[in-house]
Amino acid sequence: MGRKLHYGMVGGGPGAFIGDAHRRSINLDGMAELVAGCFSRSYEGTLETGKALGIAPDRLYRTFEEMAAAESKREDGIDFAVVVTPNHAHYAACKAFLEAGIHVSCDKPLCVNSEQALELERLAREKGLLFLVTYTYMGHVTAKHAREIIKRGDIGTVRTVAAEYPQGWLAHEGEWGGKQGSWRCDPKQSGDTNCLGDIGTHIENTVAMMTGLKIRRVLAKMDKVVPGRLLDDNDFVLVEYENGATGMYWSSQIAIGHDNSLRVRIYGDGGSIQWFQEEPEKITVVKKDGSLTEHHRGYGSIAPAAAKYARLPSGHPEGWIEAMANLYRSFIECIRAKEAGTFAEDMVDFPTVSDGADGVRFIEACLKSTRNGNTWVEL
Ligand SMILES: NC(=O)c1ccc[n+]([C@@H]2O[C@H](COP(=O)([O-])OP(=O)(O)OC[C@H]3O[C@@H](n4cnc5c(N)ncnc54)[C@H](O)[C@@H]3O)[C@@H](O)[C@H]2O)c1
Repeated sequence: MGRKLHYGMVGGGPGAFIGDAHRRSINLDGMAELVAGCFSRSYEGTLETGKALGIAPDRLYRTFEEMAAAESKREDGIDFAVVVTPNHAHYAACKAFLEAGIHVSCDKPLCVNSEQALELERLAREKGLLFLVTYTYMGHVTAKHAREIIKRGDIGTVRTVAAEYPQGWLAHEGEWGGKQGSWRCDPKQSGDTNCLGDIGTHIENTVAMMTGLKIRRVLAKMDKVVPGRLLDDNDFVLVEYENGATGMYWSSQIAIGHDNSLRVRIYGDGGSIQWFQEEPEKITVVKKDGSLTEHHRGYGSIAPAAAKYARLPSGHPEGWIEAMANLYRSFIECIRAKEAGTFAEDMVDFPTVSDGADGVRFIEACLKSTRNGNTWVEL
């Protein structure tokens, strides 16, 4: 066991969703401790959350700029910052910590345009800092297994992908959604997209990381179905990858009956896989001879590079929190290795700032395609 790292959080204040999930995930392995925060836009909110979490009052900050400056000067300052605000604030917060020489974890989408993404990529590279973008789903053991078996050729060359991420929680204005729904539908806080940036971007990342395929161009139809909505809530995207394979992505927040139904089907010339995030303990593999196998987490059929992340034996279900924790496990191991001078690029087993930038370019191309009247747009 290495040194316990220290981290600070921006966002995750009273009533927030994902900040609390990050804290629980990081706690799972006891490799890092929360010691500082600017948890809310309001200082009262930061004080409330800080008190509830037992953070020393002198490490509760009014702004993330103040936090980055103060923490970088302390002997016992934070090793990494976790940015879990609504999308519009990601860029400035990440930039402040990178400039202060602090590693960063930021939730998706990385930021709201590709100029910002390039700048964050550049800063992380030039400063030699690690940058995790928490696309949660690639943390699942079975998602990593999918990547491994595709890499080793179990389904042959990938020819086509069909992936969907339907949710129903924003099917009607004002009925559900609460605090989380209101900022997602507000261009000032969400950027130029709601649904595609929120969950379509998870499809893009999950498929990219499982297959290793790079997108060449997209044709998108991003619709605002609920009357009065300013941003998209139902999106169809046709995809062409650089190797000539094709894909079809559907993301929706108006699909009543679905909770969080990310499903990925990948078809090669030797077989196919199906992975469903609501049942992440297994993955289905079909070979071209018609034989169907379910690979279950916890068994010897799981590739070692994925199996090493399992915490529990088979039949003792792991889920979303464990997936997020697995991203942090690799991120924290890499920070420790940097400190020890043993870091190597092939240790990185989490989505990075470059993957986040790919996500932002995907979103921009889809927006352009939609504005052009649903034409093909190169990335
Ligand atoms: N990885 C995933 O699966 C996943 C799931 C949900 C949300 N997200 C992402 O997480 C981010 C947050 O989403 P959420 O649903 O938790 O939102 P939320 O509204 O529940 O929480 C946002 C928090 O950020 C705080 N905040 C806003 N601006 C701030 C600032 N300038 N300084 C400090 N705090 C500030 C708010 O006060 C609030 O506490 C979004 O980017 C979203 O896309 C990712």
